[in-house]
Amino acid sequence: MDFELKTLTAARLCAEKCDALIVLVGGDAASGSDAVSKMAALAIKSGDFESKPGKLLSAYRPQGISATRVLFAGAGDGSAKNIRTAVSAAMVGLKTTNVQRVVLSLVGLPKAGHDAARAAVLACADASYAYATTKSKPPGQKLQRVVLAVSSLAANQAGFDKGVGLSMGLALTREWANRPANHATPTLLAQAAKELGKLPRIKVEVLGPKEVAKLGMGSFMAVARGSDEPLRFIVLRYEGGSKTEAPVLLIGKGITFDTGGISIKPAAEMDEMKYDMGGAASVLGTFRALAELQPALNVVGLIPACENMPDGRAVKPGDVVTSMSGQTIEILNTDAEGRLVLCDALTYAERFKPRAVVDIATLTGACVIALGGVRSGMFSSDDALAHALAQAGDSSMDLCWRMPLDDEYADGLKTHFADVANVAGRAGGAITAAKFLQRFAGKFPWAHLDIAGTAWKSGAAKGSTGRPVPLLVDFLLSQVQTSKVAKAAKAARPSSKKRSVSRA
Ligand code: BES
Ligand code: MN
Ligand code: ZN
Repeated sequence: MDFELKTLTAARLCAEKCDALIVLVGGDAASGSDAVSKMAALAIKSGDFESKPGKLLSAYRPQGISATRVLFAGAGDGSAKNIRTAVSAAMVGLKTTNVQRVVLSLVGLPKAGHDAARAAVLACADASYAYATTKSKPPGQKLQRVVLAVSSLAANQAGFDKGVGLSMGLALTREWANRPANHATPTLLAQAAKELGKLPRIKVEVLGPKEVAKLGMGSFMAVARGSDEPLRFIVLRYEGGSKTEAPVLLIGKGITFDTGGISIKPAAEMDEMKYDMGGAASVLGTFRALAELQPALNVVGLIPACENMPDGRAVKPGDVVTSMSGQTIEILNTDAEGRLVLCDALTYAERFKPRAVVDIATLTGACVIALGGVRSGMFSSDDALAHALAQAGDSSMDLCWRMPLDDEYADGLKTHFADVANVAGRAGGAITAAKFLQRFAGKFPWAHLDIAGTAWKSGAAKGSTGRPVPLLVDFLLSQVQTSKVAKAAKAARPSSKKRSVSRA
């Protein structure tokens, strides 16, 4: 879909030819003398419409307006959140129509500007997304063009550009998380990453079973053993900063299907475990957005990708394996496989001397119970990093919530037969999983996002949400400013070797 940003006055809106004109109406509705403003004012006065978020009123071929349809959508105080609600509601109304060209007006809204423009673009892109890859007759994409009408280009351009770049990343993430596991094997995921390597400033390297064995990733290999699909370890680099600048690392869990292995899962809803590579998909989508936005920083993405299957050669409960870090792990439950692939990626991360490492994983059902689908679980050993992630969640409306990491939570991971067990009891399951990961993340500021509840929707709207790509992109953009600040501080104190993640 094409997006265009355009400055228009309320009067000029009336003359815009399009299939549908969506007019967001805020707090005190416009009082202009043009046809659109007059119609909105009249509808409000007569009680047929109000500017509450989500309220709609539509008209067909109204006089004095060039658009075929006009849709008024209440946007409350014009906050980004209310704009999202308003645009989503309006787009539902257009879904069953033949509308191809839409003009979406933010003209005259109280809080129009950066966040409003971004929210409007993202809500449009979100509403028009439809999964098509494995359908014999793909649903025709009717909506082709959205013109975002605003009063000032200067105030909206940056937010608009961010929205467009982010929407491309989100679409890629949703596409790969939605794909069935037989259309999204580790090999295919690596090919998708290679495609990203054709974009500016992105380089991609893919390791196979031999290279991974040579690195000593015994934990990752133990998970992959049960599958006929060969594992892949994907390394992406976005080089937007200077060569000497320490990168931010993103590590995405890439279990392309999680049966549970020998500790097999129940049949009901097991199909949904095709999104167990949602963390990996969010890393790919974030790199897609980086290629659009071209920020001045270095980012490395790591994706350990494999299937978790039961088989004659599969790893068994009680087996002890040696991770790349040298720590031995007793695998008491083969369904706790995410942490087993991530721990070796965390050890691999050390070679980049990162300024921060964030892993993203559909890690635990316990996190779904704790936080539901509203906020991702966020765990961090570093207050500045935790703060930056929480802030990025707020600014991008892709929320997360910091969870505790008290050492007592690790007590249940003790075992007589190895350095650590891969599961503790049922209590605090999201936290004990994070405590396991923390053992492998001692050499850099580290955070873990458990996206089991937020990356996917079950029920009628079943499918990938694309989260937490908006959070990750805002976090990375916040690190551009702070890397400049850090550089200046370093220049002032040449002896300082401290790497830091600063608050945005
Ligand atoms: N991929 C699952 C976690 C999951 C569950 C994601 C539901 C999305 C929705 C993970 O590999 C898993 O199976 N975790 C186990 C851990 C347990 C064995 C300690 C779980 O959550 O039950
Ligand atoms: Mn599992
Ligand atoms: Zn899993």
